[in-house]
Amino acid sequence: MADKAGADAKTGAAAAKGGLKAAGAAAPGDATPLRFLTCGSVDDGKSTLIGRLLYDTKLIMEDQLVALERDSRKHGTTGDDIDLALLVDGLEAEREQGITIDVAYRFFATPRRSFIVADTPGHEQYTRNMATGASNSDAAVILIDARKGVLTQTRRHSYICSLLGIKHVVVAVNKIDLVNYSGERFHHIVGDYLGFAQSLGFSSIATIPVSARFGDNVTQSSDNMCWYDGPTLLEHLEGLDVEQGLDEKPLRFPVQWVNRPNLDFRGFSGTVASGTVRPGDRVVVASSGKESTVTRIVTADGDLAEARSGDAVTLTFADEVDVARGDVISLADSRPDVVDQFAAHVLWMAEDEMLPGRSYLMRIGTKYIPARITTLKHKVDINTLEHIAAKTLSLNEIGLCNLSTSVPVALDPYADNRATGSFILVDRFTNATAGAGMITFGLRRATNIHRQSVLVDKASRQRMNGHRPAILWFTGLSGSGKSTIASILERELHARGAHTYMLDGDNVRHGLNRDLGFTDADRVENVRRVGEVAKLFVDAGMVVLCSFISPFRAERQMVRELVDADEFVEVFIDTPLEECMRRDPKGLYARAKEGKIKNFTGIDSPYEVPEHAEIVVDTRLGNAEAAAQRILEALAERKIIS
Ligand code: ADX
Repeated sequence: MADKAGADAKTGAAAAKGGLKAAGAAAPGDATPLRFLTCGSVDDGKSTLIGRLLYDTKLIMEDQLVALERDSRKHGTTGDDIDLALLVDGLEAEREQGITIDVAYRFFATPRRSFIVADTPGHEQYTRNMATGASNSDAAVILIDARKGVLTQTRRHSYICSLLGIKHVVVAVNKIDLVNYSGERFHHIVGDYLGFAQSLGFSSIATIPVSARFGDNVTQSSDNMCWYDGPTLLEHLEGLDVEQGLDEKPLRFPVQWVNRPNLDFRGFSGTVASGTVRPGDRVVVASSGKESTVTRIVTADGDLAEARSGDAVTLTFADEVDVARGDVISLADSRPDVVDQFAAHVLWMAEDEMLPGRSYLMRIGTKYIPARITTLKHKVDINTLEHIAAKTLSLNEIGLCNLSTSVPVALDPYADNRATGSFILVDRFTNATAGAGMITFGLRRATNIHRQSVLVDKASRQRMNGHRPAILWFTGLSGSGKSTIASILERELHARGAHTYMLDGDNVRHGLNRDLGFTDADRVENVRRVGEVAKLFVDAGMVVLCSFISPFRAERQMVRELVDADEFVEVFIDTPLEECMRRDPKGLYARAKEGKIKNFTGIDSPYEVPEHAEIVVDTRLGNAEAAAQRILEALAERKIIS
């Protein structure tokens, strides 16, 4: 959508002449409020600006006003004037006490329009909060201190806004009073900003010189800047014509639960994420492609003739179709993509770095499924927008990634639909949010690869072998005795006629995994590949002994989930670090202690002790032969061998 402001934004010069005219005035009392967020560095005057908007639109309660005047005299930084920042910062203090967590939303209204402003903290460590605010906003007000001009933080925030689908930006060049209301200074900053922002794809960029402290051009036109004849900030926001809302997008109805109170009623409950739905609409279940017709839209207050985005309803269909929690219902003629691989921008939010290959829980719509980042294509330097080659993402970093899910999911590009184009990644052990993603597009390549069916299956191979297949997963520190014990065990299994194979860390790293080192990311990939190979051996009907330090719980769990529950046996070779160091069979601990080997497990790289290993062997209590014997007995008990 190119409105007047959009056209101006493209021709920097026109925009720089002095703010952009607001386009497409909203109807008085427009029912849909404008959601916007304010971004700026800590001292740019964000609090004062929000305070000014609330103050001038008379949204401050009498008692708050009295308190404000009192506090301004006591703590204010503005002489005898009311310090509007105290108003907002006072609320911020409440927030710090834990009342509001991430983003504070404030409401105000004029006769023409109502507004919801997301107030997010400006510090860099709060990028995730800013992203949360941006993902719910139609527009962003980016504050620039007239004395400082465009800063790193200005660029960061603008980039994140563009990534999160904000189309309309208002650059408020604040503290213009402190540069003597200089038009020259203003135009210089605007030129700078537009030079940077033109690649970000905003449809409109308005630029307004303001003094939040004295109120120039916030809600009142200023007499101090005859060179500026554009709208005030509030006028511009009142008239801002935002893109079509979620109502106008194609129908997406993620099913929260299947509602079946008795045999006569079967409905699908959830909240309409986008679009509208009416009885008689021809709909389709994304995952299966099965079609039906909507018969009723049921709510606690009776049936509806139509449901729109945000409505919580229960739909009933004319036909018996399979629908499960997490399925997405759409209209038959505008379906989402259903893919198990896609590209997305991921904003990393965890202290632990992102590890490609690790399995995270992905929440998209109402669905939770295992997903992994298969490749990090590049990370983005959000100050220069440069693409940088990287292997991982750290806290607050953003990268373009390829992801894959365990089953196909219904999704849309984020640019088409914020509701079905975004997801979060959750750490499977801590349950903390690890990252947030915006989908760029589904990858088609997986769609054209189908499973080939084969005539001899796992069960027939198992019958011929005469025993059940299994992965025996040996984990423990280097030098703990894993390979020694596993090797004796293999000899014993072999002697009993079992079909075996041994995958050993050192050996595999000479071939299949020759390209991998010992960073966390490489260890994740090491175990992922070995897990896939071990799974093939299980399919071949064999007992595969895997001997890997495999220091992370997450990846051992991942291999466990690759096969049936009774096909995975975790054997923890529990030898304390001091004992491994004393034995030091390959002299590696000595070299690691001298600093000659980096990232050595137990020295400067972690080992996460198994919590639910099927078998634990304390090697101080007996020799390797005895340990192998014990494991053999445990396998017989589990009926893996007879
Ligand atoms: S894992 O952590 O990725 O599972 P893996 O079992 O394949 O490790 O390989 C471990 C073997 O590599 C060790 O037994 C040791 O001989 C050798 N090695 C070389 N460098 C290191 C290191 N930095 N950390 C651990 N083992 C190392």
